[in-house]
Amino acid sequence: HIITKKQGPTFCQFQGFWCRSSLVPNIISFQKHFQALDDDIIVASKPKAGTTWLKALVFTIVNRARFSLSNSPLNLTNPHKLIPYLEITVYGQDHIPDLTSIPSPRLFATHLPFAVLAESSIKQAKSRIVYVTRNPLDIIVSFWHFIRGIECPDWPLVECFEMFCRGEEGFGPFWDHALGYWKESSEKPHKVLFLKYEHLKENPIQQIKRIAEFIGFPFSVEEERAGAIEEIKTFCSFSNMKDLVGNMTGTMGRLHIQPKELFRKGEVGDHINYLSPSAIERFCKIVEEKLSGSGLAYDLPC
Ligand code: A3P
Repeated sequence: HIITKKQGPTFCQFQGFWCRSSLVPNIISFQKHFQALDDDIIVASKPKAGTTWLKALVFTIVNRARFSLSNSPLNLTNPHKLIPYLEITVYGQDHIPDLTSIPSPRLFATHLPFAVLAESSIKQAKSRIVYVTRNPLDIIVSFWHFIRGIECPDWPLVECFEMFCRGEEGFGPFWDHALGYWKESSEKPHKVLFLKYEHLKENPIQQIKRIAEFIGFPFSVEEERAGAIEEIKTFCSFSNMKDLVGNMTGTMGRLHIQPKELFRKGEVGDHINYLSPSAIERFCKIVEEKLSGSGLAYDLPC
């Protein structure tokens, strides 16, 4: 079942979620061939939830004993190259990579819903997943800007909004994606750390400590006293990453995304500047209904 829109991106339904049809062979290859190791760390998210930021944080936390911040590979290399997406860049239709020589812990990322991760791999290994989610209204606005910037300059916001209401956006529906990781994090808190973009913005120090502890790289008292967490916060901040990564040359992936497209405003609540009160109310009702009884809630204005 393929939806074709003149001005917007095209997604197809596959294994109960929506994605670009070009990704299907990669997803199948990833599901079939990827062997998770117990110390793998997987960054999981829906696009526009704060993935780039989380990748920068995880990479910096894990590698802080190897590289000082001034020597960090992040000064020269895009976070999406340092922590690649398994189903987008690592696996391809004709490409089964040998990942066995990557030093431990291996860092990977995925936008796939938890439900479609292979049973015998990430789910069974002791590998850990750090998931970031975000107010879906801000995701809609961020996604719309992003797609307009990279491929569909004339895409009306209303079309993007309606697509999210139907749950037919890439890796959507939003609610299924969030609920899959939420349920796993509630049942197996050692397996999935469930983060919110808004909490990262509100209290980055506390959230960086949480991430570090969860992935097995806690900060020592000496590090804390020396201000290591504060330094990582500043290094991975929106303004620093926008300067560093946003000015890098070269494009990423099949869509030839320019690094600068990864950074826009980096704020909470920007949807208010784009969506009408009635649209916001309508979407909130849908989300509220879909999440009801799950214990998962967003700070939505309804
Ligand atoms: P906005 O479009 O609202 O500005 P992703 O990395 O998952 O694609 O998410 C992109 C969103 O995260 C964009 O949101 C982008 O500006 C924001 N972002 C990127 N890096 C960030 C950082 N270091 N701190 C805060 N927000 C960041």
